[in-house]
Amino acid sequence: MRSSRRRFITGITALSAGLTACRGVSPAPSNTTLGLDRAPEPPPWEPDGMLDLEAFAWGVQVGDVTSDSALLSVQTTEPTIDLAIVRQRDETWVEVGARTGLEVTDGFVQVTLDQLDPDTAYQFVARTPDGARRSHTGRLRTALGPDRIRRIVFGATSCLGDEAPDFENLAWAAKLDLDFFLLLGDTVYAHATTLEEYRADWRQVLATDSVRDLCASTSLIATWDDHEVANNWILGETVGPDQLLAATTAFREAIPQRQGPSGGLWRSIRWGDVIEVVVLDSRGERIPPDQIVSEEQLDWAIETLQQSTATFKLLLCSVHLADHTELWGAVEADDRWQGFPEQRSRLVEALEGVEGVVVLTGDMHYGSVHHLAPPGQPGAGIWEIAVGPSGSTLNLLAELALAREQYPMMLAEHSCCVFTADPLSRTLVVDFIGDDGSVLASQILTV
Ligand SMILES: [Fe+2]
Repeated sequence: MRSSRRRFITGITALSAGLTACRGVSPAPSNTTLGLDRAPEPPPWEPDGMLDLEAFAWGVQVGDVTSDSALLSVQTTEPTIDLAIVRQRDETWVEVGARTGLEVTDGFVQVTLDQLDPDTAYQFVARTPDGARRSHTGRLRTALGPDRIRRIVFGATSCLGDEAPDFENLAWAAKLDLDFFLLLGDTVYAHATTLEEYRADWRQVLATDSVRDLCASTSLIATWDDHEVANNWILGETVGPDQLLAATTAFREAIPQRQGPSGGLWRSIRWGDVIEVVVLDSRGERIPPDQIVSEEQLDWAIETLQQSTATFKLLLCSVHLADHTELWGAVEADDRWQGFPEQRSRLVEALEGVEGVVVLTGDMHYGSVHHLAPPGQPGAGIWEIAVGPSGSTLNLLAELALAREQYPMMLAEHSCCVFTADPLSRTLVVDFIGDDGSVLASQILTV
């Protein structure tokens, strides 16, 4: 592992890894010549119609892209819209289809685009039926097909919050035309009980310039933490089934997502033989004091990771899987896997036998690269990366933490992460991007 601190986004690894189509950012010279970079994309598509920031104030969202399909969500005040879709072909965009007369229900249109080509850029726009007014232009990149590899550059964050509500670090990520972006939870801090109140909380976040630009620039893969429903909620104690249904509905409307094998949030998304994203739901099935996830979810996660042939197996988990006894003792341990030792041991011991696992988390309001356990304990060889917070209250204790072998890097600044996953060298570069576009810290991990 190598690390460095503070350089500027023009030198970001993602750019030096070949993302030369970025808008308004000059790429640094490539220092990697493995021939595995993504093919360049044409300059941004310029569709007809006038951008209408009232009718389409909340932008466009794409979720859970696979090698041949994508889920789209558009919120609008219009009763009916059309969708125009273009695909990259060499240096230009060509029209590949349109959806017309899409009826808007409760302010939403959600559609599935299918029969897409793998590892290909698409752009799309929602328009009024007369073509006069339109939404922001959305972009997505389909996943690699089976058995395909190349370097993949993706982003991640958690905890948008209200301490720095412009989320400026996300605006920098939006310039990179990433392959995809991961949301680790607390994307909204809802103060709601009804569906309309949850929708209003989501609309406020989605209409923020940086979030709107990020959602227009790439697809999302999301899980939730507690604040998409309520602070530290427990079903049947602080939240009833009607409120949970309202929160879940608003979450899935805002960030389109596939249902997992149980119909719930936990699911997996493949990017060829390079990355498998295994999404956990560490909140919705929690039953204290012993269960942080259902046995069904735990068994599924272990089996999925063990059977995956991807070089990088990303385990998305809103709360930390690490044992933080050396750093935080048992403080708030019941809000992370440490407080559920039996299930944690089963998962960590299973992961020990799987190559290429990296755990991505949010929740604790500091950025960090650390091991799942101190030296000599199960999980000591597995990396966990805490991403964000993009805007919520910083946990300044992270700056005071004494250096320990388990914790090579901690950061108490608003940030998001950009990752470069190189399947040939099996390296994962992690850049923490600050509100001014600088790389606050960088780590190179080998899996
Ligand atoms: Fe949070």
